[in-house]
Amino acid sequence: MIFYYSGCGNSRWIAEQLSVRLDEELAFIPKLLQGDSKEYAINDGESIGFVFPVYSWAAPQLVERFVLETKWSGKPKYVWFACTCGDEMGFTRRTFAKTLRRAGLELDSCFCFVMPETYLAFPGFRLDTKEREQEKIDDARNKLSWVSGKISLCQQVWDEKIGWLPYTKSYLIRPLFVRMAGDSKYHVLDTCNGCGKCQKVCPLGNVRLVDGRPQWNGNCTQCMACYHYCPQNAVQYGSYTRNKGQYFFSERGVRRK
Ligand SMILES: Cc1cc2nc3c(=O)[nH]c(=O)nc-3n(C[C@H](O)[C@H](O)[C@H](O)COP(=O)(O)O)c2cc1C
Repeated sequence: MIFYYSGCGNSRWIAEQLSVRLDEELAFIPKLLQGDSKEYAINDGESIGFVFPVYSWAAPQLVERFVLETKWSGKPKYVWFACTCGDEMGFTRRTFAKTLRRAGLELDSCFCFVMPETYLAFPGFRLDTKEREQEKIDDARNKLSWVSGKISLCQQVWDEKIGWLPYTKSYLIRPLFVRMAGDSKYHVLDTCNGCGKCQKVCPLGNVRLVDGRPQWNGNCTQCMACYHYCPQNAVQYGSYTRNKGQYFFSERGVRRK
């Protein structure tokens, strides 16, 4: 089984590709979190994988919450995760392994895919150039066979892109990001035509159209899907996203205004 979460499609694509290559089922974490009973019975000899984007040099909080709130029964043969990040994952392996251990699961391997950047909700953060986006996707595509080969053989691999000052980022700066994250700065420009795309793409069901305009309801991971997928580029986050362009993963190639 592969449990996954994705805001703008990068991690969904990786999860889908691995699911096909490994012949494993896929389960979308936000949907599982909505269910009443969070229990997963691990079959004999089953491998368990998690695929998610790196948020502030760690796994997204909702992924950690899913791991901790789920009752895992049985012992998996092999536990792995694959993260996608714009450039570096810091100590994601260390912090996520600890979360898994608290839930009774021991991490065997991790993999890192560098994918197009999606975070723009702070001054100084920008999208990659169109060329760089394509280059990252091509590199990730080429890496998929190697990753699925290692997973199918249950090999222990620590494929990390830790980057600079990982302790400072994952342990000191991350809590500040988490505290700042929220949806109070989201709004729409007059070009919003009430198409409802933002409501449809929000993985948490946090956006609702009220009188033809989106309203954000306080349950936001800042994945920025509402911003990136808006056909009018009308969704904005404060003034931070002005004229920064859009990106979301599309099978047909890089899609960006
Ligand atoms: C809230 C947020 C925080 C992020 N933090 C990081 C980070 O710490 N390091 C990094 O390299 N990329 C970071 N990114 C970029 C994403 O990890 C990257 O673009 C990822 O592939 C997005 O996956 P998705 O399309 O499945 O949502 C962040 C993106 C968001 C939205």
